[in-house]
Amino acid sequence: MSLPFPTMTAPQAAELIEHGMMVAMSGFTPAGAVKAVPRAIADRAEEIHEAGEPFQIRLLTGASTGDSVDERLAEAQAVSWRAPYQSSRAMRKRINAGEVDFVDMHLSHLPQSVMFGHFGEIDVAIIEATEVTADGKVYLSTSVGASPTFLKKAKKVIIELNRAQSRDISDMADIVIPNRPPNRLSLSLNHPLERIGKKYAEVDPSKIVAIVETDQPDELGGFTASDELSEKIAGFVVEFLSNELASGRIPSSFLPLQSGVGNVANAVTAGVGKSPDIPDFFMYTEVLQPAPFALMRSGRLRGASSCGLTLLPEQMQEIADDIEFFRDRIVLRPQEISNNPAAVRQLGVIAMNTALEVDLYGHVNSTHVCGQNIMNGIGGSGDFARNSYLSMFVCPSVAKGGKISAIVPLCSHTDHNEHSVHVIVTEQGLADLRGLAPAERARTIIDNCAHPMYRDYLHKYLDNSSAAHIRHDLQHCFDLHRKLMESGSMLG
Ligand code: COA
Repeated sequence: MSLPFPTMTAPQAAELIEHGMMVAMSGFTPAGAVKAVPRAIADRAEEIHEAGEPFQIRLLTGASTGDSVDERLAEAQAVSWRAPYQSSRAMRKRINAGEVDFVDMHLSHLPQSVMFGHFGEIDVAIIEATEVTADGKVYLSTSVGASPTFLKKAKKVIIELNRAQSRDISDMADIVIPNRPPNRLSLSLNHPLERIGKKYAEVDPSKIVAIVETDQPDELGGFTASDELSEKIAGFVVEFLSNELASGRIPSSFLPLQSGVGNVANAVTAGVGKSPDIPDFFMYTEVLQPAPFALMRSGRLRGASSCGLTLLPEQMQEIADDIEFFRDRIVLRPQEISNNPAAVRQLGVIAMNTALEVDLYGHVNSTHVCGQNIMNGIGGSGDFARNSYLSMFVCPSVAKGGKISAIVPLCSHTDHNEHSVHVIVTEQGLADLRGLAPAERARTIIDNCAHPMYRDYLHKYLDNSSAAHIRHDLQHCFDLHRKLMESGSMLG
């Protein structure tokens, strides 16, 4: 049956976008991100720039995206403002050059901010779907992200109907938009896999101005196989969790795991999966990565609540080929539910996120190199870390071949403060900070987590700091960062 919406090509749909518009696009990682229309917008921006006219949009998404969105639009200098997260080299470069205004925010907050108009009105939403019906049911593809809210709030909607995505994916979707406060009902999520919503998002059909048919798989990047370093980190995590289980501090049925983005987090979850000491487990997380997905067939991972499927192409095919197996084991939720602080607290999630640097008292910087240049953004790490039962941060003890110590006297930027950080793990060892006062925290982090080549320096820093509840030497707390900026190495 033909739909009562105009069908057009991506370049035709891009003509609907004007300079200065706030445009919201689907995508939570490359999963479910739009592809054809953003590329056409980038081409259009370049043509307009060549004619000497300005053309830039304000860009909102669920989280990071595929190359067609951040990478291509940044290359075309087509973005003036960006929120809430990105992980693209080209976009990062423009943000750090001061050419794109970037708002780094907790991902669970985004839909509420959009709903209440914190960023102004959304002119156009461009959303990938596998099906749309005449009465406005939108079946989303491989991520849910903030698309249900974008569809509700945008003045106009363009749908990319992607034939390369399996229609069955939306069997996993569980879409609900919470009521507005103060009448927000309590979230009745008593299990990671409990379903509380619908399989589709909803839109007022009169807002749909274009359907663009596409046939492109998600632009998923590769994952590096776990290396010796991440396996060491995983080993410490597994040993710690096993001891927690044995002591009864984690219930014998275990608790749902959340795992952050990146290769280290992926490898750590693989390590947990391999350990005979850890029982079969569930995940309540924002991104389902390849390593945990691979644990589903064996039953080690019993099921996962996520916001998107950031998998390998062959794993996406596996889902399409055997939806019967996966539909009851994976739930795809909007980001305000997948990352919901109340759900994280209620379910007792064990959070494992990644740090760029950690300071002597356990503050964590996950986002800004030397406190200045953004890497990706805070993403969902704060949603989980602050509200989890157990908040762990992992990272290698050094970066760039040892020129950078991940353990520093004082973080040059703080995303997670000491109150939200329970455990730090590097390939050197693990620091359990629970119950430790500042002086004990500092010595434990240095002795257990810092690389040996930086330990003496860090101990001396402490010894030379004046006595206080939290010892610091404000003359020298950023000496390592200063050396790095001056000479390219913290070693001087
Ligand atoms: N100073 C400067 N650069 C550093 C650094 C530091 N202290 N620590 C790491 N780096 C560099 C690495 O050298 C590497 O650079 P490269 O890309 O040029 O090789 C890069 O940062 C990534 O480090 P890597 O060790 O490969 O880690 P990763 O892939 O696990 O990513 C984060 C680590 C912190 C960047 C990433 O996890 C992130 O963006 N986290 C914040 C968001 C988040 O946690 N989301 C999940 C919530 S569910």
